[in-house]
Amino acid sequence: MSAHIGVTGLAVMGANLARNFARNGYTVALHNRSVEKTDALLNQHGDEGDFVRTESLQELVDSLQKPRRVLIMVKAGKPVDSVIEQLTPLLEDGDIVIDAGNSHYEDTRRREAALAEKGLHFVGIGVSGGEEGALLGPSIMPGGSRESYDSLGPMLEKISAKYDGDPCCRWIGTDGAGHFVKMVHNGIEYADMQVIGEAFDLLRSGAGIEPAEQAEIFTEWNKGELSSFLIEITAEVLAHTDARTSKPFIDVVVDSAGQKGTGRWTVVSALELGSPVSGIAESVFARGLSSQRDQRALAQDVLAGHEEQVQVPEGFVEDVRQALFASKLVSYAQGIDMLTSAAKEYGWELKLDEIASLWRAGCIIRAELLDDIMKAYADEDRPENLLFAPAFAEAIAAAVPAWRRVVATAVQLGIPVPVFSSSLAYYDGLRRKRLPAALTQGLRDLFGAHTYRRIDAEGTFHTQWSGDKSEVEAVDTH
Ligand code: 6PG
Repeated sequence: MSAHIGVTGLAVMGANLARNFARNGYTVALHNRSVEKTDALLNQHGDEGDFVRTESLQELVDSLQKPRRVLIMVKAGKPVDSVIEQLTPLLEDGDIVIDAGNSHYEDTRRREAALAEKGLHFVGIGVSGGEEGALLGPSIMPGGSRESYDSLGPMLEKISAKYDGDPCCRWIGTDGAGHFVKMVHNGIEYADMQVIGEAFDLLRSGAGIEPAEQAEIFTEWNKGELSSFLIEITAEVLAHTDARTSKPFIDVVVDSAGQKGTGRWTVVSALELGSPVSGIAESVFARGLSSQRDQRALAQDVLAGHEEQVQVPEGFVEDVRQALFASKLVSYAQGIDMLTSAAKEYGWELKLDEIASLWRAGCIIRAELLDDIMKAYADEDRPENLLFAPAFAEAIAAAVPAWRRVVATAVQLGIPVPVFSSSLAYYDGLRRKRLPAALTQGLRDLFGAHTYRRIDAEGTFHTQWSGDKSEVEAVDTH
């Protein structure tokens, strides 16, 4: 029996994707560096569909229909290169190598170019939804050549999550586009989680609402415009009681957030693109600060707070909900804006409506909001910024008074809300008619002759600061 697809790397994500293909009627050839994992999968789940057991990459390749499709699911970085190196000599023109891990898009671009020279297709696919998603239907963001998608796409669409019957899988664009979009998804995921954390902290430390009661609040919030997977599971985590201590589970967890790197990559890439993803950046920094546990312990004795003992304003819970919604919208707007900049830089034709559509189910940031985002970008009159779409401009404007009250209260109480406040600063920064960037330009011109443009004349100018302060036309040095 020749297999439709081969999967190498059978840790939980790879195993679950393999099972998902098999459950959807595909014959799946299995390979793992140590055969024990292959056998464990077959023993536990061999009856879920048609699997072919192989012990070597050669056997895996030999068991596949042509063009061969081999999906690699190993740790991002060197392990992917190492599998590619072993695999490619065994393949033929037109075969497809798929990397379904959280690889850096620059690696994917490099690998795609290298394999294309050998006549092979390399497809980096972003897969979101965690272990459960991989098994039951993830959101899938495939890059690589359009031609490879013609052969691979139907299979990916079949195993993907569905939103009203629509597969949450679309061809994103050439080379690293799929992994880039998955990276930005993760950046938004970081910001989404951070704003939830800020809301939790405000309700707990500001309004004295205990986790169990907050679980009910989040459950309520999940019924409205905030409705999303992350809000839903927040209620679940907050409702959980630790079996050992009978304390709220959240109180026995060390408050130091881990990170595997995709959020950081988003910010590094945004910096390179000049894309202002301030909320996403603050959420990565917030994880960094949380991890500096030694400094935080020292700060308890050294740094004074001078918090004001203010009462939270009436209606605070609803204010926090609105501030959370507005900050969340800003994070999505920033992530999407970054996609637009990247599309220009890398020559990708990213279809923002399709990207929003495939985030509507299966992935970690799935949210009701995404259906509206999809519609906003499907409109002929595509907004320059998500926040300019009439529905969103109206929604965020409605939240602004509460958002300002919450940030002001947080500042008075000494509760850090880096994403709530930076998102508000982004919003105000966008709206502001004149920014102090004019002063920055003046300073740069004074100390470094970096030149400036005038509001009332074409061209680039320099003031002779150390001379008679007369203005001369200059060559633009940015
Ligand atoms: C997903 C997740 C997934 C994983 C992150 C965790 O979309 O399914 O984003 O990829 O949970 O890699 O990232 P951190 O360890 O950096 O939080």
